[in-house]
Amino acid sequence: MRLDVVTIFPEYLEPLNVSLVGKARAAGLLDVRIHDLRAWTRDRHHTVDDTPYGGGPGMVMKPEPWGEALDAVLASGEGEPVVVVPTPSGRPFTQRLAGELSERPWLVFTPARYEGIDRRVMDEFAARLDVREVSIGDYVLAGGEAPVLVMVEAIARLLPGVLGNADSHRDDSFAPGPMADLLEGPVYTKPPQWRGRDVPEVLISGHHGRIARWRRDQALLRTSLHRPDLIARCDPAAFDRHDRATLAELGWRPGPDGRFGRAPDGMEE
Ligand code: ADE
Repeated sequence: MRLDVVTIFPEYLEPLNVSLVGKARAAGLLDVRIHDLRAWTRDRHHTVDDTPYGGGPGMVMKPEPWGEALDAVLASGEGEPVVVVPTPSGRPFTQRLAGELSERPWLVFTPARYEGIDRRVMDEFAARLDVREVSIGDYVLAGGEAPVLVMVEAIARLLPGVLGNADSHRDDSFAPGPMADLLEGPVYTKPPQWRGRDVPEVLISGHHGRIARWRRDQALLRTSLHRPDLIARCDPAAFDRHDRATLAELGWRPGPDGRFGRAPDGMEE
């Protein structure tokens, strides 16, 4: 997979040389190219921003450097990339989107600073390319570089050959499959006792059926506690008889449409 990042802070992307993504690059699985947006400015001061039309605080990134930078990046490769624009006003970045992007051969990221990029840049390139405006969460960062690091890590670990064990992401929170849309429960390793705390007995029982059931119950418990919204929107067909019993113990009841809901605190009969 080829990844291009156009930024005014190339050094911010240094972490892409480290750990999982760094190893994927070294192994030739990822071809990462970082570009300095200021290389496409034409004035002495290498200006990339200007005041917003209509007034208001902050500065807006000028369209000309972005246009020329993207023209040059696009001309340097074969085919058409997906252009990923990090912005707090984008669609949410999810495991599903990470999976979808991991199947594309070429991604171009355009992290912005200031109040964002002049709208015409996205409109111009969306007329001929797949442009995705994406948010990594409901908070505002100072720029899109950290979101690029987040998205690249989520995407790169899904590429074939990047994780040592191909099964490593099978039970991830949000991974498609038996644990779809549930959070992962707790994990343990040796020693069996630490500071007087034991590893749950079932995990050393060697009984695969009981272990799978326990993990599933822990996932339901944790999801109920931290992300009840995920249980409420889950397709009820995903829950077996035992799941339903566990959910009932946690205060969940199927509603008229079959989906599970929970009475507000203190409202249970
Ligand atoms: N730029 C600033 N905040 C952001 C966010 N939450 N997601 C993506 N890009 C951003």
